[in-house]
Amino acid sequence: MIHRGYKGISRLSKIPYRQFSRTALISKDQSDVPPHQDGLYFGKFTKAEYDEAKKIIEQQISRLESQIKGDHNIRENLGKIPQFPEPSSSSSPASKKIDNLTDFFEQTIKLTGPLPLSAYMRQCLTHPEFGYYTTRDPLHLRTGDFITSPEISSVFGEMLGIWYFSVWQSQGSPERIRFVEFGPGRGTLIFDVLKTFNKLAEKFTNVKPKIEINLIEASHVLRKEQWKLLCDEEGAPLETTEEGYNKSVTKWGNEIYWLDTEKDIKQGNSEIANFVIAHEFFDALPIKSFIREEEGWRELMVEHTASVNNTQPKLESKETPKSENDESLDTKFHLTISPKETPSSMIPQISKRYRDLPVGTRIEICPDAELYIMKMVQLLNTSNKGAVLVIDYGTANEIPSNSLRGIYQHRFVSPFWSPGEVDLSIDVDFQNLKNLTENMAECYGPISQGDWLHNIGIGHRIDQLIKKNSHHEETQDKIYDSYLRLTHPEQMGNIYKFMALLPKHASSSSTPPPGF
Ligand SMILES: C[S@@+](CC[C@H](N)C(=O)[O-])C[C@H]1O[C@@H](n2cnc3c(N)ncnc32)[C@H](O)[C@@H]1O
Repeated sequence: MIHRGYKGISRLSKIPYRQFSRTALISKDQSDVPPHQDGLYFGKFTKAEYDEAKKIIEQQISRLESQIKGDHNIRENLGKIPQFPEPSSSSSPASKKIDNLTDFFEQTIKLTGPLPLSAYMRQCLTHPEFGYYTTRDPLHLRTGDFITSPEISSVFGEMLGIWYFSVWQSQGSPERIRFVEFGPGRGTLIFDVLKTFNKLAEKFTNVKPKIEINLIEASHVLRKEQWKLLCDEEGAPLETTEEGYNKSVTKWGNEIYWLDTEKDIKQGNSEIANFVIAHEFFDALPIKSFIREEEGWRELMVEHTASVNNTQPKLESKETPKSENDESLDTKFHLTISPKETPSSMIPQISKRYRDLPVGTRIEICPDAELYIMKMVQLLNTSNKGAVLVIDYGTANEIPSNSLRGIYQHRFVSPFWSPGEVDLSIDVDFQNLKNLTENMAECYGPISQGDWLHNIGIGHRIDQLIKKNSHHEETQDKIYDSYLRLTHPEQMGNIYKFMALLPKHASSSSTPPPGF
C-alpha cells in the first residue's frame, strides 16, 4: 500500500516542449487565395460545384438563424437549441449521453477549447455525479486507493489530541470549543482527537467544555462514513438542515455539522475557541499552472487529443517502475501551453513572488488554498483563541513546479488517465501559506512529521503500548511497524510536514507550542 506522499519531484524544471501541443491555428494565407485559379474556384471546385456548396451553406445558415431568432420571441426557442452538455435523459436518439468525465471533458473542450488545469482538477475531484471523492470511499481498506496516517495507527490522532489539549489549557481552558476539520476522510482522525481530548479534559481539569464539531466535506459518501463512526447510528440520525447542511449528535453528545466549503462556517461568537485540523486536505485542492515565456506568463491548459503517450507525471517511485508500455500513460488529455494570456496570467504577473522568475520557469499556484487558510486565520482571530494544524506533504521553501500526480490502487498514474476514477494530488506550498498569514497569526513550522511526533512524545506512547502487549509478539510488531511508517525519514517521517497557526499575541511568552 502506498501513502499519498511523493518523493523525487524535480523543482522549477524547464518543461520539455515536446510534451505540449499548441492549438493549431488556421493559416492566415488561406484567406488570401484568389477565388479564381485556372478556371476553378479556390483552385479546387468547378463553378457548378462551388454554387451547389454555397447554396447548402446558405440554407444551413438561414435555418440556424431562424432557429435562434425565432419568428416572435427568441426565448420561445430556447428549448429547441441544442443544450450543452446534452441532458442525459434527452429522448433524441442523436444525443450522446454523458455518463463519465472523459466524455464530459471531450465535449467541453471540443466546444470551448482547452480548460484551465484548475477546472479540470475540480471536476475530477468533486463533480457531483462523476467526481473521484464524491462517488466513493477512497480510503476503504479493500477497495481504496491510498492510506493516510490516521488510518495507519490511532496513536497519530492521540498525539494531535494531546496537542490540542495542551494548547487549550495554555489558553485558559475556554469553556466553548469548536473543532473544525477540513476533509475528514473516514472521520478516524477527529474520532481519535476527540477521544483523547475528552479523556484528558476529564482527568486533568474540572472544566467540561461544550464542544461543537464542523466537518467540511465535499463527499456525501464520506459524510456517511464519518457519521457512522462518530455518531450513534440508532439514536442520532443524519439530518439535513434548512440551509442544506447535514447535522447529527456525536457519541459524546456534541452537535456535529457537515458543511460544503469554508464559506459555510459560521464566524461564531468571540466566546468560541476554534481548533482547526487540515490533514491531507490542501493537497487535494485544484491548482493553476503557469510557465514563464519570453512574452510573459502563460497558463497550462488541459487539451484533448484522441490518444497521446503522456509522460506528464514523473513516476519516480519504488512502487511504480517507469515503463513506456504502462497503459496509464496513454491518455486522451494532456497539457498544452495557452498561446496567449488568459485572465489567470494576471496572478503570477502581479505577484512579487513570481514576477521576476526567469524564462522557462514553471510554477503551480493554488488559489483555493489561499481562501481556506485566510478563513482559518479569521476563525482564530474571532476569539483570539484556538489553533490551526495543517499537515500535508509539500515544499517548505520552494514554489511547487510540476507536482500534480494521479493515485490509483496504491500506485502513481498519469493525472490525465481515467478522469474521475483517479485521485489527484499536489505538493502544498507551505511558504505561500506562511507568507499569507504571518502578519495576522503566529506561524510555527513547517517541521517534519517524524520530528513533530517525537517532540510530542510518540516514543513514550509506543513504549507503553509495546509493554502492554508483552504477551502478543505479533501485536507488538504491528505497533512498532506503524510507528516506523509514521516517523521514519525514509517513510512518512520526512515528506509530511506540520505547520501551526496560533492567534497573534495569544500568550505572553514567545515559547513555541509543543511539537515545534
Ligand atoms: C486525501 S483525503 C484525506 C482524508 C483524511 N484527512 C485523512 O487524512 O485520512 C481528502 C479529504 O478531503 C475531502 N475533500 C477533497 N476536496 C474537497 C473540497 N474541495 N472540499 C471539501 N472536502 C474536500 C475528501 O472528500 C476527503 O475527505
